[in-house]
Amino acid sequence: MTDSPETRFRTSQLEENDGPPVNPTDNRTMGEIIAARFSRRGFLKGSLAVSAIAATVSPLALVAADEARATEASAFKFDELEAGIDDKHHVAPGYDADVLLRWGDPLFADSPEFDPVKQSAETQARQFGYNNDYVGYIPIDDSAEHGLLVVNHEYTNPHLMFPGIVKIVEKDGKKAAEVAPLSKGQVDVEMAAHGGTIVEIRKEAGKWQVVRDGKLNRRITSNTEMALSGPVAGHDRVKTNADPSGTKVIGTLNNCAGGITPWGTYVMAEENIHGYFSGELPEGHKETANYKRLGIPEGAYEWGAHYDRFNLAKEPNEPNRFGWIVEVDVNDPNSVPRKRTAMGRFKHEGAESIVAKDGRVVFYLGDDERFDYVYKFVTKGTFNPNDRAANMNLLDDGTLHVAKFAEDGSVEWLPIVFGQGPLTAENGFAGQADVLIETRRAADLLGATKMDRPEDIQPNAGNGKVYVMLTNNSKRKADQVDAANPRAGNAFGHIIEIVEDGGDFAATKGNWEVLLKCGDPSVADVGATFSTATTANGWFGMPDNCAVDSAGRLWVATDGQGPKATGRTDGLWAVDTEGAARATSKLFFRVPIGAEMCGPLFAPDDQTAFVAVQHPGDGGEDWEAFGRPSYYEDLSTRWPDFKPDMPVRPSVVAITKQGGGKIGV
Ligand code: FEO
Ligand code: CA
Ligand code: CA
Repeated sequence: MTDSPETRFRTSQLEENDGPPVNPTDNRTMGEIIAARFSRRGFLKGSLAVSAIAATVSPLALVAADEARATEASAFKFDELEAGIDDKHHVAPGYDADVLLRWGDPLFADSPEFDPVKQSAETQARQFGYNNDYVGYIPIDDSAEHGLLVVNHEYTNPHLMFPGIVKIVEKDGKKAAEVAPLSKGQVDVEMAAHGGTIVEIRKEAGKWQVVRDGKLNRRITSNTEMALSGPVAGHDRVKTNADPSGTKVIGTLNNCAGGITPWGTYVMAEENIHGYFSGELPEGHKETANYKRLGIPEGAYEWGAHYDRFNLAKEPNEPNRFGWIVEVDVNDPNSVPRKRTAMGRFKHEGAESIVAKDGRVVFYLGDDERFDYVYKFVTKGTFNPNDRAANMNLLDDGTLHVAKFAEDGSVEWLPIVFGQGPLTAENGFAGQADVLIETRRAADLLGATKMDRPEDIQPNAGNGKVYVMLTNNSKRKADQVDAANPRAGNAFGHIIEIVEDGGDFAATKGNWEVLLKCGDPSVADVGATFSTATTANGWFGMPDNCAVDSAGRLWVATDGQGPKATGRTDGLWAVDTEGAARATSKLFFRVPIGAEMCGPLFAPDDQTAFVAVQHPGDGGEDWEAFGRPSYYEDLSTRWPDFKPDMPVRPSVVAITKQGGGKIGV
């Protein structure tokens, strides 16, 4: 919308999501709060404070015994890493963390080497993209040491990418950083740095290598041709001047988390699409309310100045062609990715899936905005493990549901189906295509529960549970808390655990509880609920991406910590979910200052953890280490101990145990 330098100074996703919440409804499944969920740590601390409790055993002894039981019962065996803040990455003792791929690394035999002062769209489209988020692995010949790595490239940070673009200026007597307007060439580099990478990798002598001439290697960018498929394909609301058929879209945007389907395709979630659009809709345009609900246009990117499709005045329907789940057939590098409209349109975060008892496939989907919703999609057809081709259009037909969490610990999955309940012509829906284009409004009308920024959601085949990461929500007021979002001003986020009825992931009902309220447990006001065995290094805030390894253990990555928020950088924590150790957390890996921790992903043999270090060095000019005219130039020259393999660029890092073996065992 605006072209002021400040809006071009895009920083992390967290700040992007710090705009005003856009959910206008007052959906609240619960009025008053019952915050009666038992917090063992809080209870014990309370016991210590109340000396009058008639106990024959000292409370301190109880705590010690409790800690010992939790430590003994933990599913994770590794020496915990010390939390902290510096400009390097760190992993637990006895492990190696090797950079596998960095922004700009060549992906093809003929790719040029990365040169930050000679960037072009052409070279970027042959190199690893920017801001790696989701990481997936698709085995070749069932191997845990040879496969395709798929990586989403979520967004771009011009101030970290282009040398010399940041100018330090005096403003009101203080120094401030401004980003010069991008050239069209730089916008083109940004567009080529978005999307995804598919690249063959192989483990040799215990170390992962990129296979540069892998025949399935591929870059997907904001210029890759895609098909709209499912109920919205061909609808009037997705037709444009460039595509009167309403079926052919150019590119994908803001691919955050994602997933691998049971049939071995790669799914990419389009998340914060609002920033790419600028310009204004014609007065009274019929999409005005629809776009407002998604914060469109936000105009943080300058693409609309160079390309009509990002300018609402020129192509008013274009935003309806983004905000979908994109499916890519990695076995054919020329395949046309398909936007699967049956899975709804919102700020998609993640698309992790699991085969239900009857063979239908269930995808858990977060909508990452404060006060938005948790969804799941259940295919109509069933997965055929013996015929990959038979599964290739499963995502075009199925039922999208949205979650309503009740105070009694139950959850109901409400179907988002035209003609059912309020989803009728009376509310402006002429069919399922309208319902899907305006998924958020449909969910508003159904009375879904407004959550604290739903991020990654992970089903666990081992125990039938589902883990929902809720990053934070500083805007939730005391009269807006409910059982599933139990803290006002929720600065540190929480994790909800769902058990679907009958252990059936396709069920329309289930039960839930809060697995963990995050934040520093030594500060009573925070109300964190880590177990007493969790050390000062072991707690974290802002859960975002997560993974379940093949042993069924939960690993949580964070986004948004740092010197001001928690006094520690983001990282990867191992979180016990079962038995006496439940809610015990241990730090395994941490990122350089300014970075966010994405991935994570475990190789099928659990001998490698792939993690994605996103936007290292970001965070504003007020940090001494990064107070520099060009972030990129200084990152490469400032530190005497700089090494080329340091993740000062967005990087995928492979973590392995020294001498081999499973991680955390
Ligand atoms: Fe892209 Fe919600 O993080
Ligand atoms: Ca995320
Ligand atoms: Ca994030």
